[in-house]
Amino acid sequence: MTSNQRNLANFFIRTYGCQMNELDTEIMVGQLEKKGLKRTFDEEDADLLIFNTCSIRDLAERKVMGKIGQLGRSKAKRPIIGITGCMAMAKKETLFKKLPNVDFVLGTNNITDLGTVLDEVLETKRPSLRTDDQFEENLDYLVAKRDDKVKAYVSIIRGCNKFCTYCVVPYTRGQEVSRPPEDIVQECQKLVDNGYKEITLLGQNVNSYGKDKKEWNCLFHDLLYRLDQIPGLERVRFMTSHPIDITKELMEAIRDLPSLCEFVHFPIQAGSSRILRKMHRIYTKEQYLEKVAMLKEIVPNVSLGTDIIVGFPTETDEEFQMTYDVMKEIRYSVAFIFAYSARKGTPAMRWKDDIPESVKLERVHKLMELQEGIYAEQRQEFLGQTVEVLVEKRNKDGKLKGRTRCWKNVVFESDKELVGTLQNIDIHSFNHQTLIGNLSESLILA
Ligand code: SAH
Ligand code: SF4
Ligand code: F3S
Repeated sequence: MTSNQRNLANFFIRTYGCQMNELDTEIMVGQLEKKGLKRTFDEEDADLLIFNTCSIRDLAERKVMGKIGQLGRSKAKRPIIGITGCMAMAKKETLFKKLPNVDFVLGTNNITDLGTVLDEVLETKRPSLRTDDQFEENLDYLVAKRDDKVKAYVSIIRGCNKFCTYCVVPYTRGQEVSRPPEDIVQECQKLVDNGYKEITLLGQNVNSYGKDKKEWNCLFHDLLYRLDQIPGLERVRFMTSHPIDITKELMEAIRDLPSLCEFVHFPIQAGSSRILRKMHRIYTKEQYLEKVAMLKEIVPNVSLGTDIIVGFPTETDEEFQMTYDVMKEIRYSVAFIFAYSARKGTPAMRWKDDIPESVKLERVHKLMELQEGIYAEQRQEFLGQTVEVLVEKRNKDGKLKGRTRCWKNVVFESDKELVGTLQNIDIHSFNHQTLIGNLSESLILA
């Protein structure tokens, strides 16, 4: 433990995992700065090190365990070390045994307690653990310290009730708890007042929003209609959705609300209905395809994203081929492809992890190759098109960088101060995944 009682001057924080963790980091940074600590990006220099961790796959955990195991060995003045995030929930007090240099473990539902836990550690010089199973809506989101000045994450629901058999999230984030709509609207309004133009609504399953609080009478699409009323909020995105909960009302909202972007992360996970049943995804391939067809009919210019898991226990070559075929058919504009990783405590652990790693990797590569081809075709389709870009920043090479409504990266040259504005860009070429263009003529004249 800390060798002597002292005041903490600065902290270093590293984030692993998803956007939810990124937002939680921003909240913790805000809390610590409010307490008078300064953020440093030099871990050698820090009095306090926080690792905001992820448990989604084995590799994610091993990275952190290796990293923390290395720390503090060679230093006379030992920093305080804390583990937060999903590994804190998945491993709890066992972390103190595995990593004796860790001073506190703070779960995903206890971010509010960060200050108290730090005081406790400094005072008692003993390890401190807070890992509540359930989130209580007492978190001050407004304290969040964001680096980005144009786009912001806003949490609308925490936790997940879906219990896909492979997934740790229902255990590391607890049950679904929706955030009051007034709080969300107020935070979004404040962000817009501070110059933010795009908001991404976050939740493990945003489409469950409001179902746990029937008395609010505000489901996900209702919330979207409310947010669309905020003047100056140019773009709203959301992630992630569970296909079963994507409703016709949501599809119509995407069609009708000017702020809502025409991009939906619609993760299929696998193309075989038998595997989907084993994953407890509660839809068949046919039901999924029907929903995609309905969405494309209502919003013809929609782009789709997906997550895929290959090598789920017992997945045959034929079943893998079904995933391949479905990806080829749908032509996602974003696809994250993962090899199945057996997670302790999940229902899928009852089946043997029987697909050899080499086969899983081969399947991952086949899908990546397929997807690369699809991306290449999609890039060609952009040539000659004019797209609306929200300008996010100036890159080191001086070019301006932004994204289209459908989430494509775009760069273009301009010496004007355009960060935070919407611009029409004529696309003339591309470099890897990035589209390259010029300010559209019509706008230069305007
Ligand atoms: N709530 C999100 C998922 C969060 S996890 C959703 O349902 O879309 C992000 C992705 O990680 C999942 O969609 C899944 O594709 C992948 N994933 C989750 N658990 C995994 C595991 N045990 N092995 C491999 N990939 C996994
Ligand atoms: Fe995990 Fe499934 Fe919940 Fe997504 S919906 S977080 S994959 S349990
Ligand atoms: Fe990882 Fe937890 Fe997110 S397990 S993906 S950090 S919800």
